[in-house]
Amino acid sequence: MKQATIAFFYLLFLLIAQSRETTARQGGTSSIVFATLGGLDYDFDIFTLPTHQPPSKSNQLRITDGLSVNFNGHFPPPSPSLLSLLPNHTSLLHPPSLNLVYVTQRGGTSHIFYDALYLPSSRRVQVPLLKGPVGISFKDKPSVTQDDHVVYVSTHEDPGVPRASWAAVYSTHLTTGLTRRLTPPGIADFSPAVSPSGEYTAVASYGERGWDGEVQELTTDIYVFLTRDGTQRVKVVEHGGWPTWVDDSTFYFHRRSHEDNWISVYRATLPGHEPISSHSVTVERVTPPGLHAFTPAASPGNYKFIAVATRRPHSDFRHVELYDLVRKEFVELTRLVAPQTHHLNPFISPDSTRVGFHRCRGGATAAQPHLLLQNIKSPVPEVSLFRIDGSFPSFSPKGDRIAYVDFPGLYVVNRDGSNRRQVYTGMAFSTAWNPAREGTVYTSGGPTFSSETTEVDIISINVDELEVDNNVKKLTLNGKNNAFPSASPDGKWIVFRSGRSGHKNLYIMDAEVGEEGGLHRLTEGPWSDTMCSWSPDGEWIAFASDRENPGSGSFEMYLIHPNRTGLRKLIQSGSGGRANHPYFSPDGKSIVFTSDYGGISAEPISNPHHYQPYGEIFTIKLDGSDLKRWTHNSYEDGTPAWGPTYIPPADVESPNQGPECGFEDCHWLSEMPNNVGLGAGAGGILAMLGVGSTTKPQCAS
Ligand SMILES: *[C@@H]1O[C@H](CO)[C@@H](O)[C@H](O)[C@H]1NC(C)=O
Ligand SMILES: *[C@@H]1O[C@H](CO)[C@@H](O)[C@H](O)[C@H]1NC(C)=O
Repeated sequence: MKQATIAFFYLLFLLIAQSRETTARQGGTSSIVFATLGGLDYDFDIFTLPTHQPPSKSNQLRITDGLSVNFNGHFPPPSPSLLSLLPNHTSLLHPPSLNLVYVTQRGGTSHIFYDALYLPSSRRVQVPLLKGPVGISFKDKPSVTQDDHVVYVSTHEDPGVPRASWAAVYSTHLTTGLTRRLTPPGIADFSPAVSPSGEYTAVASYGERGWDGEVQELTTDIYVFLTRDGTQRVKVVEHGGWPTWVDDSTFYFHRRSHEDNWISVYRATLPGHEPISSHSVTVERVTPPGLHAFTPAASPGNYKFIAVATRRPHSDFRHVELYDLVRKEFVELTRLVAPQTHHLNPFISPDSTRVGFHRCRGGATAAQPHLLLQNIKSPVPEVSLFRIDGSFPSFSPKGDRIAYVDFPGLYVVNRDGSNRRQVYTGMAFSTAWNPAREGTVYTSGGPTFSSETTEVDIISINVDELEVDNNVKKLTLNGKNNAFPSASPDGKWIVFRSGRSGHKNLYIMDAEVGEEGGLHRLTEGPWSDTMCSWSPDGEWIAFASDRENPGSGSFEMYLIHPNRTGLRKLIQSGSGGRANHPYFSPDGKSIVFTSDYGGISAEPISNPHHYQPYGEIFTIKLDGSDLKRWTHNSYEDGTPAWGPTYIPPADVESPNQGPECGFEDCHWLSEMPNNVGLGAGAGGILAMLGVGSTTKPQCAS
């Protein structure tokens, strides 16, 4: 008896030791997967065209290497220190043909790189510019100064306030790496531009006002401060963004005209003496009405032209053009080379001979395969983090399969990317597996994000049924916007939200027979409760609700016991903020969710379309402690899922072909003033969903 007990404990010890070892060997415990609408289609590279020759395919040059996502370039002024960073730099007799500083997303987070390109061989030397202090964060809009600093945006410092942007401007010395924050504490700055002498930096900022939830154009102001230490900060222009200097007292910027509503480029002239003040700054409009012109780029001492991005009436595409300041006319560039591609965020070389921009590289370089799972650098070593090429992912009970939506169908794929199958062809969203019944996935069929009376029903799908659309069972009957199913750990019950009472509240029904087996109302009130997730121990249901301010668009996150007791608020993102899409961790101790807790990180106009560019992935413990930010970018990340296996942190290729460049320009840019008209053929997800441009596919209710 005694011996048997000892043997038992010895066996137990071995088992525990072994499982510890397995965990250690794999390096992790679980994985988080989330969605970014269009995010895996960007494939941005930086290209350049000459400014003094007619643009053509043959004089267009791709500067970056065709890997990862590369954007927001800058041609640095000639600098011995920059050249000295090149590994074999020996003499200035053979300087690189092109020097480029830009942001790249390789390695799962953003970095600032310097590429030296030697033509005609196209030999490339690539040097990361920030080593050390600035870790996982979004980086943006780098520029290199005459005195050997790189000035850029980073989001690595938490201001400690909900719904405040983490974006701030830093300067790092190229050779010593010494880094200094130029933005005052508690303030967010976007789109920095350094003046030709390096003395001044201009930024777009809300200043003390803070971000107020804007997701399209920002009503930022332009501030100027000393680049060396951020002092003498002065608001110089009310309402404007994306500054760019032509000399030390003149910069261009964009804003929407109050008179005619076209987004246009303006010029600000500062009084030419220190200290700068907002008095006697003169502002003149530069580009005429009739098209949107934005994200201007000037070059030092060039009073002849600037570069801009435009959206013209009757065009679906964003193009880079020059604006001739003397003749007051546009000179088209990229439309003549690649008419059906968006071109973003131009910049001009210091000698004005080249304009650079980024665009999707398209099929031109097949170096990089299309991805199913893009590895994102995780702040927690035991948990890997991925962006999936789809929406509403969920993990099978063993964590070996992922169900997700790729509008309009539902797919199941092994976590290594193999055996991807469409299991439902209808319009589906928000997926969930039955933890106790192998191969059963719940979703809702019908248009997403519609009013309380829209026909949407919970369905269950046997995903192991080989024939698509076979074995689909409807579990709710009335079609009154029944959605966001989540099953209890014993697999017997489903919690979901329904609009059947005229408001969206939560209900529980039998997982097998559906609402015919009876319905238990979990929440009740004239507001929206939605996006529910049942904890692995069965004790809690987490959900998002706007009950504090119904209809306002703000959502807080709550916990409630399945027996209707214990309701409590878990987190609220400031006042008027959003905490959506909760999903329990496999150990049941934490919740991953989407929130605007970190504000926005860049001017949305400098990106493709995102409904909610503030969306980032966060986790929190059930007791409300340990709030952690997992993603840093200027995109909308949403619909996270947390699976019980550790997927090794490396990209997983898609069985699909690609890349497709299938993202859309900011929808609000196609709204032309004076009813000039929309571009033809606005397509994509919205058209497929059959819904208007105010819908929010990622994390709305
Ligand atoms: C640097 O020089 C060495 C020796 O000449 C050569 O082998 C190496 O390829 C060079 N490296 C680069 C990055 O050019
Ligand atoms: C409700 O459920 C919780 C969690 O299981 C339990 O602690 C509590 O006692 C239950 N309350 C009632 C009234 O049944």
